[in-house]
Amino acid sequence: MKITVIGAGNVGATAAFRLAEKQFARDLVLLDVVEGVPQGKGLDMFQTGPVGPFDTQIVGTNDYKDTADSDIVLITAGLPRKPGMTREDLLLKNAGIVKDVTDNILTYSKNPIIIVVSNPLDIMTHVAYVRSRLPKERVIGMAGVLDAARFRAFISLELGVSMQDINACVLGGHGDAMVPVVKYTTVAGIPISELMSQERVDALVERTRNGGAEIVNFLKTGSAFYAPASSAVDMIESIVLDRKRVLPCSVQLNGQYGINGTFVGVPVKLGRNGVEKIYEIDLSAQDLKALQDSAAIVDENVALLKELLA
Ligand code: NAI
Ligand code: 2OP
Repeated sequence: MKITVIGAGNVGATAAFRLAEKQFARDLVLLDVVEGVPQGKGLDMFQTGPVGPFDTQIVGTNDYKDTADSDIVLITAGLPRKPGMTREDLLLKNAGIVKDVTDNILTYSKNPIIIVVSNPLDIMTHVAYVRSRLPKERVIGMAGVLDAARFRAFISLELGVSMQDINACVLGGHGDAMVPVVKYTTVAGIPISELMSQERVDALVERTRNGGAEIVNFLKTGSAFYAPASSAVDMIESIVLDRKRVLPCSVQLNGQYGINGTFVGVPVKLGRNGVEKIYEIDLSAQDLKALQDSAAIVDENVALLKELLA
């Protein structure tokens, strides 16, 4: 097993370190465009081995040759939004980055499973899918695991119960249009609507929707990375260990939920072959419409990339 992490920034480096500790792969590659950064962080991680303890061989690099024959590639490369930059500018910049990264990965690895973290998530996953020409089961976006983790953490805080017993369902695109599905959000199987008032449910849903922004407001110059990196590692674990966990991931739908060709978050089974099943669960008319509206926003943004993807 060989795993490559592209982007040695906050999310990429944190994910690489967690992957090293978990020893999912003997070979772990950390790649970035900035010279020295992946080498320095990679060497520091490697030297953690004796006290980690782990035996993972970590290579930091700027050269895609070192990524050859990767089984799993995690893409975290991207730019943050800078002052004066519109959302559209950022979309085009990051799409260009994810396109180049994907082309480079496929030059050296013929059949990897690609997990995308770069934002805007669902659209970047679409870019990686189109450029890689991999089967749709092998290109997966990470967002729902993070959004659900945030919802679970807030429910745990509200009720004073272990996070372990909480299951949360958050579907849709990553961003303002995400769809937390309250009826499938439970504590040890008990719907949260039986454990707190509707007013509190609504407040936690709202906090989940703004989970990323809440952290950006504190950090000012960056966004969340511990929970995002751990969420990506959760997905990788299910693939590497073939655990077949059912997790909300951004995948391409082909008719499910009345959505065609769009990458959007839904519950899927993740195993050694990537996406092994897409679950089409019963949603209220309101949640279904919210999911379809969220997919429509992804489509509108993908349409802006027509030239780039031609
Ligand atoms: P960061 O700025 O700390 O790291 C990004 C890294 O990408 C930098 O080291 C940069 O040098 C590198 N990079 C830029 N262009 C590259 C290229 N062409 N090839 C290789 N590396 C390149 O950012 P951070 O916090 O690690 O976030 C990374 C991405 O993940 C952002 O787009 C962010 O919005 C997104 N994100 C998505 C989440 C999700 O739920 N899907 C959650 C958190 C972050
Ligand atoms: C987050 O949700 C920025 O997408 C990132 O924290």
